[in-house]
Amino acid sequence: MIRLKNICKHYKVNNTVALDNIDLAIDQGELLAIRGKSGAGKSTLINIIGFLDNFSSGDYYFQSEKIEQNAYKKQLKLRSKNIGFVVQNFALIPDHTIFYNISLPLLYQGYSKQKIESRVHEVAKRMNIDTLLNKLPQHISGGESQRAAIARALVNKPDLILADEPTASLDEKNEEIIIEYFKELNSEGITIIIVTHDHAVANQCNRVIDLSDGKITSDNRIQD
Ligand SMILES: Nc1ncnc2c1ncn2[C@@H]1O[C@H](COP(=O)(O)OP(=O)(O)OP(=O)(O)O)[C@@H](O)[C@H]1O
Ligand SMILES: [Mg+2]
Repeated sequence: MIRLKNICKHYKVNNTVALDNIDLAIDQGELLAIRGKSGAGKSTLINIIGFLDNFSSGDYYFQSEKIEQNAYKKQLKLRSKNIGFVVQNFALIPDHTIFYNISLPLLYQGYSKQKIESRVHEVAKRMNIDTLLNKLPQHISGGESQRAAIARALVNKPDLILADEPTASLDEKNEEIIIEYFKELNSEGITIIIVTHDHAVANQCNRVIDLSDGKITSDNRIQD
């Protein structure tokens, strides 16, 4: 599904090498954890995979198709149709309700009002935030915002879910709810890539990649 060949990402600031020759193949249906210290390049990698960032050199294939760096329209189309992204800082739109925030991917895809209503309620219920739908982001807690961001990423039933520290602000119970939901979606064939520091999350994945200084230092598949 995803193939990265010699992907490098340089930043001019401090002459940083955020990713150093990453070679990675991810098949459809994988439930993959990416671990590594702060600054290792985890967000950079997942942002490149999800077309939120450009790389400096190398080749990227998404569903066997080579993705050119300047093909913004194509990237946008692939992203809105195929990818659900839980970003590290939630990125909820402040002046709009939780309902509106969660419904955004469906609005972009032109779904009917009825369909949007039912799908938003379904996923919000699953994330245990169905009573918060009329609130604004500044009136809910960090953990609730995190679950709203996850709901927004899942509402569209994407083929690929990219989640950057999706359980960082959650208590154990809500973390379990999220892991269980991810596993259920994965069992339906959805590919999931999770950046995590959390052992409980990584332990539930069937492949764990360690990143250090922009390089993959280990890549282990776990048998069920
Ligand atoms: N916009 C930027 N400009 C310059 N350097 C950057 C930029 N974004 C990230 N970096 C640098 O690239 C490296 C990798 O950053 P990245 O955000 O991918 O780390 P991370 O593994 O996600 O860390 P964390 O666990 O803290 O989220 C770091 O050294 C960081 O300082
Ligand atoms: Mg990060």
